Amino acid sequence: MSQEFDVVVIGAGPGGYIAAIRAAQLGFTVACAEGNAYDDPKAEPRLGGTCLNVGCIPSKALLASSEEFENVEKHIADHGIDIKGASINVPKMISRKDTIVTKMTGGIQFLFKKNKVTHLKGYASFVGKENGLYQLAIKGKESQTVSAKHVIIASGSKARHLPGMEVDNVLICDNEGGLKFDQTPKKLGVIGAGVIGLELGSVWRRLGSEVTILEALPTFLGACDQGIAAEAQKLFTKQGLQFQLGVKIGEVKKGKNNVTISYVDAAGGQQSLVVDRLIVSVGRIPNTDGLNLEAVGLKTDERGFIPVDNHTCATSVQGIYAVGDVVRGPMLAHKAEDEGVMVAEILAGQKPHIDYNCIPWVIYTSPEIAWVGKNEQQLKAEGRAYKPGQFPFAANGRALGMGSADGFVKILADATTDEILGVHIIASAASDLIAEAVVAMEFKASAEDIARICHPHPSLSEPIREAALATDRRALNF
Ligand code: FAD
Ligand code: NAI
Repeated sequence: MSQEFDVVVIGAGPGGYIAAIRAAQLGFTVACAEGNAYDDPKAEPRLGGTCLNVGCIPSKALLASSEEFENVEKHIADHGIDIKGASINVPKMISRKDTIVTKMTGGIQFLFKKNKVTHLKGYASFVGKENGLYQLAIKGKESQTVSAKHVIIASGSKARHLPGMEVDNVLICDNEGGLKFDQTPKKLGVIGAGVIGLELGSVWRRLGSEVTILEALPTFLGACDQGIAAEAQKLFTKQGLQFQLGVKIGEVKKGKNNVTISYVDAAGGQQSLVVDRLIVSVGRIPNTDGLNLEAVGLKTDERGFIPVDNHTCATSVQGIYAVGDVVRGPMLAHKAEDEGVMVAEILAGQKPHIDYNCIPWVIYTSPEIAWVGKNEQQLKAEGRAYKPGQFPFAANGRALGMGSADGFVKILADATTDEILGVHIIASAASDLIAEAVVAMEFKASAEDIARICHPHPSLSEPIREAALATDRRALNF
């Protein structure tokens, strides 16, 4: 007889493991299937999904190490500290990152035990429905069939590869290979100037690579407020990242120790770039391989996503929900987590709600870029009258003291009601600063509300208040 659960979650990334824990907290019997052991198929499957294993956590560890290195090499002398001959030990840096990943994935194992979530060690696929219960085959370390009243699909996403380009994760890499180089490549090519391209391009540039980023679109960071994008492009170019926008990638040829990328540049000229390593970061695609969705009457849309209700993440089949990267919306860990919590609470009869307009974005470059809500292009396109207020970190004492005076805060408020419609930050601590803006927008705050709240001095949060004042043309320190 198959084991029976109230809820079976497919995938243990941020969407899945959080859904499993929340469902268990709410009193359901819960199992979570995860079969991915990454580099070592003989090892135990690792919990945490893309985020913990080959995404957010390892990339942020490498960003931190490389930023320390660049500070010592280029900026620490400004403080009167003399350090000569700094060098980077890449294998040690990678091993530090691996230790952090192991600690974090082990932490989820502990949380599963604590919350009595059963880890089904394998890949799940739908078999059908019997007596009102969904039947799922689990194939992997411990193959078995389980049944469930409710199923939450959280199978995530994988890197999109370009046709005819063989990703071996040694010379031609996606995010997985780009996070485990054994040495700093002298020349690094990156295809795609999106989030991964900028973050991983920054890591290896700081460690000494000559980095060229090839981007198909003629505009830089199209999803960002264009004022922020222009500032970012200027700063990143000054740091040494080389951008080629509006290119058309042609043949990509792998040699013994290098890769040659042929492309047509924006002016129509035929170009060729030879690099030691290439990272391909041209977006991600939803993971539905092997789920056997047809067995329960589910179909993906034309882009491969599982269609869900915009408010509840319910699929068209009763009792089956889908969350995270495998459904519409931004491919972000915190969005996946919030959807996981929401679905578990819906199953328990609660009425949770996610305001997708209040999901923040962060790009962990230096300076960082973070935003929430609408940008200027979107407001203009909607024809909504707004008041912009901007304040530079160069006029903030704490930022100057920290040597982090690049960037600014931009607040966009409704011209009539003063409601905050969007907040855009480019600054060293933007990832943490944006949280204030998210709270404000969730509470439908006005720019005046932020302007009247006491902010600590000296702190990097003061420019947020000043930008709020600037929407009313009354910034005090600029
Ligand atoms: P995933 O994390 O992809 O997890 C899905 C899991 O399901 C995987 O473990 C997979 O093995 C498993 N699975 C798939 N099919 C089956 C099956 N049939 N049976 C059982 N298990 C299955 N987001 C941020 O918010 N901040 C960041 O800083 C950030 N940095 C990133 C850096 C990189 C390099 C990358 C690649 C991504 C980054 N992301 C970041 C995005 C983030 O990782 C994803 O949005 C997030 O992991 C999505 O969570 P998920 O649970 O939907 O899917
Ligand atoms: P992306 O969507 O951010 O960027 C892909 C870029 O590649 C785009 O600029 C696109 O125009 C370009 N591109 C597409 N096809 C191309 C081609 N043929 N030639 C040249 N350029 C091409 O995708 P990316 O960087 O792969 O990241 C995937 C997702 O992972 C992100 O969208 C994000 O959701 C998530 N992520 C989030 C992070 C964060 O929150 N800090 C960090 C890294 C990833």
